[in-house]
Amino acid sequence: MNNEIHRIGVLTCGGDAPGMNAAVRAVVRTALGRGMECIGIRRGWNGLINSDFVRMDTSKVSHIIDKGGTILYTARSEEFMHPEGRQKAVATCKLLGLEGIVAIGGDGTFRGALELSRLGIPVVGIPATIDNDISCSKYTIGFDTACNTAIECIDRLRDTMQSHERCSVVEVMGRHAGYLALYVGIAVGATAVLIPEREIDFEQDVVEKIRQARLAGNTHYMVVVAEGSGSAFEISKRIHEAVGIDPRVTVLGHIQRGGSPSARDRETASRMGYAAVNAIAEGRTNCVIGTNEGHLVEIPIEEALSMTKSIQMERYEVLEALSNRGTCFCSSDFL
Ligand code: F6P
Repeated sequence: MNNEIHRIGVLTCGGDAPGMNAAVRAVVRTALGRGMECIGIRRGWNGLINSDFVRMDTSKVSHIIDKGGTILYTARSEEFMHPEGRQKAVATCKLLGLEGIVAIGGDGTFRGALELSRLGIPVVGIPATIDNDISCSKYTIGFDTACNTAIECIDRLRDTMQSHERCSVVEVMGRHAGYLALYVGIAVGATAVLIPEREIDFEQDVVEKIRQARLAGNTHYMVVVAEGSGSAFEISKRIHEAVGIDPRVTVLGHIQRGGSPSARDRETASRMGYAAVNAIAEGRTNCVIGTNEGHLVEIPIEEALSMTKSIQMERYEVLEALSNRGTCFCSSDFL
């Protein structure tokens, strides 16, 4: 029995990510195992503002480790951005007797968590976003599943692009970050990848790549575009103007956010949820549970928010080295 902390809350906030449920499950089970009560706060920070909650027991988190989305629902709360909204949230914490909150989400969630901690509510953050763009953590829950989903979709696209000898321009998520685009681009052997972290030279980065692919014998091309580096439709138009081919555009969109979490996301989420509750129980709060070289680390929220993470450009070099180096699979192989 834990004598210090009796009751904690858990919430998911911001864009959902596969593995959030596994994290919720781990938080609830760890809390119960340590003799604490656990209250699920629904719809992110809005749930704290509106007293929208559910008492969690083990049955509530049974059979959710394999489910995408979040059983607690999620939202981006406008009201929580304002002091009045945060005061309402604090009032709910006091009314329910919540002595700590585990907040699962991205940067926006952690900014909210910092504000709440400044009002005296202890918080621990768990990074979850398919964008993998949380500076204090090498890995964020959901990224691996989203990569696998995008790869599966692009593999299917490649089949039809190959048959029709076409160019595909695929837009993947990532408003400010190109992790998804770059990892997926390497994994599908893309002709070209555009990411927001790298200034685009359209002639070199796209047109010349397509030309090299054609010269190497390819008759279909796969261009992967991160959402934050421009519209796939615009890029398609420019390709048409430059080389006369007529690309097909696919925006993968929210399909990348759903689906059963991968082994990596389930395992990471479970470890992070366990670590978050232990941190609260042992008095180490107002921090984010991040990963570093596979190990979990606790980073003070304020420091976490001031950190920067840059994409490893070696990965871009790998992509360039491996693309367009020879004839890829094409129908003529069978003729
Ligand atoms: O933050 C994750 C993310 O999926 C981004 O990649 C994307 O730009 C954004 O959320 C989309 O947000 P919404 O679901 O609100 O359209």
